[in-house]
Amino acid sequence: MAPRIEAPEFRLTKTDVVKKVEDILAPLKLSEEVQKRIREVYDEEMRIGLARNPSRKSCLQMENTYLPELPNGTEEGEYLALDLGGTNFRVILLQLEKGRVVSDEVQHYFVPEPLRVGPGSELFDFLAACIYDFLETRSKLDHKLPLGFTFSFPMTQQDLNVGILVSWTKSFNCPGVVGEDAVKMLNEAIQRRGDLEVEVVAVLNDTTGTLVQGAFLDRKCAIGLIIGTGSNACYIERVDRVEKWEGTHGDIKEVVVDIEWGAFGDNGVLDFMKTEYDQMLDKNSLLVGSFTFEKLFSGKYLGELTRLVLVKLAEEGLMFGGKIPSQLLRPGSFPTRFVSLVEQDAVLKLARPVSSESCFHELGIEHGSDDLKILQQVCFAVTERAAILLAICLSATLMRVDREECTIAVDGSLYKYHPRLHHLLEHYIIKMTPGKKLPSKLPEHGAVVRNKQVFQTQMSREPLIVT
Ligand code: GLC
Repeated sequence: MAPRIEAPEFRLTKTDVVKKVEDILAPLKLSEEVQKRIREVYDEEMRIGLARNPSRKSCLQMENTYLPELPNGTEEGEYLALDLGGTNFRVILLQLEKGRVVSDEVQHYFVPEPLRVGPGSELFDFLAACIYDFLETRSKLDHKLPLGFTFSFPMTQQDLNVGILVSWTKSFNCPGVVGEDAVKMLNEAIQRRGDLEVEVVAVLNDTTGTLVQGAFLDRKCAIGLIIGTGSNACYIERVDRVEKWEGTHGDIKEVVVDIEWGAFGDNGVLDFMKTEYDQMLDKNSLLVGSFTFEKLFSGKYLGELTRLVLVKLAEEGLMFGGKIPSQLLRPGSFPTRFVSLVEQDAVLKLARPVSSESCFHELGIEHGSDDLKILQQVCFAVTERAAILLAICLSATLMRVDREECTIAVDGSLYKYHPRLHHLLEHYIIKMTPGKKLPSKLPEHGAVVRNKQVFQTQMSREPLIVT
């Protein structure tokens, strides 16, 4: 199937309206020059982030994950895995045979808002209660299970089972946890209960967890990427290129570096490309001034960005017959799943844009057919920018990976549910990463691990071939 990268049709009869809409969307378009500058700034922040005595601090954490080695196909037994990062907490029981996941049982627990912003100890008590419920339901309370904790927030790691929280991100802001070890807090909550046998053996970022799972599927996997509520990547780096860790790693040749690219721009290096919508979005966010890059496109923010543009268009009298629908004035009223729905219309090319209509319908907003076209145009603009930004950082990261062939493991709700992001991302990575081959098909084994996809790039001196 041809990659779905073409723009939805946009033919308004009133040319002045078309022109004004284009003007309002123009700041979201990233010119070649702006793209080049973002790439240069990102490369420089990566370099400084790995340097021994940099003249200034990088906004990229470039954190050592202390992951000793990637799976080698000999792993056996029963493991418990926890996953905290979004509004759902997952508990997973994995059965491994010869490094393969032969079965996995997953249960989701919703983390209510008061727990996401309330005292940290209450959050960890909640996690321990979920573990108890999960094991009790499966009559496994007396099993001594090793536990891997995927804690998808920026951490400073001093060992595989120590993760000091640097800052909260996304929709969490619990007092009393920043500067503390998340593993210690979880162990304390488990001990407070006194009825669980589990032992936390490792704490991982979700990018690292994705890379590990990717490596189960394909030994060539060297990048873990998350495009979900937040966004981040990790990659395998040569220890000798990590100046700041010189001499501290004995015989180890490679390390997994958690980039924490969500914070790219927190030191102002991306100010030149931020639009008035990005500034507004940040101002109304839970954690103002932090995680600049993530706020430009990730799942928690893409819908809100779209809403702000729609409000601007309505204020300028370009939509909804000159009225501003009150529903649109409420922050968060346009969720990111609406962007995916609108984009579905662009993909399916139905005679009637039923999915776009359903978004306005759900919001109770009266609209005309031109409003639907403009809505599609806005969603296309924010999606296109998301794909370009991701491709810039991903291709720069790819160029650092010292492998002839490299597979990227990808996960995250935005990546999974947005109907065009995957194709756009492939398109731009190919464009921005000369000398690498990127098959447009996902390998079938990508489906082996639930919700994980793997796509592959190969270093190649041959001309670019896309099958
Ligand atoms: C945020 C977190 C990061 C995580 C990403 C994706 O950016 O800081 O650690 O990997 O979200 O969940």
